[in-house]
Amino acid sequence: MIIPQPQKIEFKEGNFILNENTVISVSDKTMSIGEYLATELRLSTGLPLSIEICDSDTNQILLSLVEDNKLEDEGYELVSTTDGIKITAQTPAGLFYGCQSLRQLLPPENFSKHAKKVAGDGDPPSKTNEGAPFSTSSSAINMEWNVPCVSITDKPRFKWRGMMLDPCRHFWDIDFVKKLINLMALHKMNIFHWHFTEDQGWRIEIKKYPKLTEIGAWRNEDGKKYGGFYTQEQIRDVVKYAADRFITIVPEIELPGHSGAAISAYPELSCSGKPTEVPITWGVFENVYCAGNENTFTFLEDVISEVMDLFPGKYFHIGGDECPKANWKKCPKCQERIKNENLKNEDELQSYFIKRMENFINKNGKQLIGWDEILEGGLAPNATVMSWRGTEGGIAASKQGHDVIMCPVTHCYFDFPQKPKEKIDIGGSKTVPTKKVYEFEPVPEELSEEEAKHVLGAQGNLWTEHIATVDRAEEMLYPRACALAEKLWSPKDCNDFANFEKRLETHLKRLDVLNVNYFKC
Ligand code: ACM
Ligand code: ZN
Repeated sequence: MIIPQPQKIEFKEGNFILNENTVISVSDKTMSIGEYLATELRLSTGLPLSIEICDSDTNQILLSLVEDNKLEDEGYELVSTTDGIKITAQTPAGLFYGCQSLRQLLPPENFSKHAKKVAGDGDPPSKTNEGAPFSTSSSAINMEWNVPCVSITDKPRFKWRGMMLDPCRHFWDIDFVKKLINLMALHKMNIFHWHFTEDQGWRIEIKKYPKLTEIGAWRNEDGKKYGGFYTQEQIRDVVKYAADRFITIVPEIELPGHSGAAISAYPELSCSGKPTEVPITWGVFENVYCAGNENTFTFLEDVISEVMDLFPGKYFHIGGDECPKANWKKCPKCQERIKNENLKNEDELQSYFIKRMENFINKNGKQLIGWDEILEGGLAPNATVMSWRGTEGGIAASKQGHDVIMCPVTHCYFDFPQKPKEKIDIGGSKTVPTKKVYEFEPVPEELSEEEAKHVLGAQGNLWTEHIATVDRAEEMLYPRACALAEKLWSPKDCNDFANFEKRLETHLKRLDVLNVNYFKC
């Protein structure tokens, strides 16, 4: 019944039932997780669920951090008996994932934001629910908040359990981003890759270059201005929201290609220097950053510095995909760079570009990631490769001793149709149904055991050229993201799609309560 399926779960006789006197027992170190759990469950159950610094033996949900746990960084144990529930982990992240499993053991209604049961006499227990609807009416539904007795031992298979969102082709507001992050947490996913820049829109405020958002964030669609961007203040808020859910955000600033919006704001960054409009069609464009102009590097280092300050995570994504070399071939500055740096061709010029950026990013204590085209012309020394055109890039990079993240179009592109003849203009006749996502094996069989260690995990990518509404985005994301989450968390031998589908029936009820517009076949 839990998605992703835990490593080991044993059902026992009986249930524990939460009631007015159930407490959440914490220590100083587990207080924040206790508060998260209490806040969420109070909203739906209306129970007081007071937080206490003690172990009260019975009628409690005990959150316990231990030192000598074999469960590694993100693992946990959850034991529920008729007397109470104990979640044990070595880290707060592990406890958080234990809480996610607990929520899936409860009836799906616990995901509601509306209390379903009278809290007993007196005031509503929580003043921290920020005005959330809290029913004290005697006509409220009398739910029984039961948790089956189980014993779970669980930990993730992969470290990188990601989702990517493209807010550039179509813009997604902060509410949508937070809802996505919240749903990632439900599925024990931990990396949110936020693709901030594209030809069709620049979406992140950069104080030193205001035209990026004054000009680059807007395009002319049939005479109307379309676009938007995130302020640095909004981004800081989302970073905190994600961190509270043990999700790290990886920002992406595309270079040297997919840079049309930036170039329309600062034309001097291109080879020709000619003014252009923010592109309004989809595809791959020849107007890219000039690799021979020093100002390009100054600009990008300034931008990356501001972006690095916003995101505490260790990875920085520089794009690197789909960069046509036609302008570089014609540009005297680019050709001079090739000559002066003893480069063979424009592929090596791209490599020079990426290596320079990597040097800067590493000097600032971060790690560079790029799409698999960064292999062409030679990989930067410490780069992590995101393999999207297939698994070949990931295989080549891990054989060269580089870390990789898998997201092949064949299984991980959630902008592809889910069934034949679905109206959509990407992927052609290629479909990516949930079953296909579920059949995805992130570690290619070509890799030796040593090479396989470089596969950090995988992610689903939501490109949005043809996705313009929240309903459509959610229909494309779910339940494919549920299937991917299981492939990334659960053991390799958890492979039975029929079993997944059975658990999905209950899981979709949770998504219903969470008001998610998942795909219905
Ligand atoms: C990509 O889909 N161009 C990374
Ligand atoms: Zn140039």
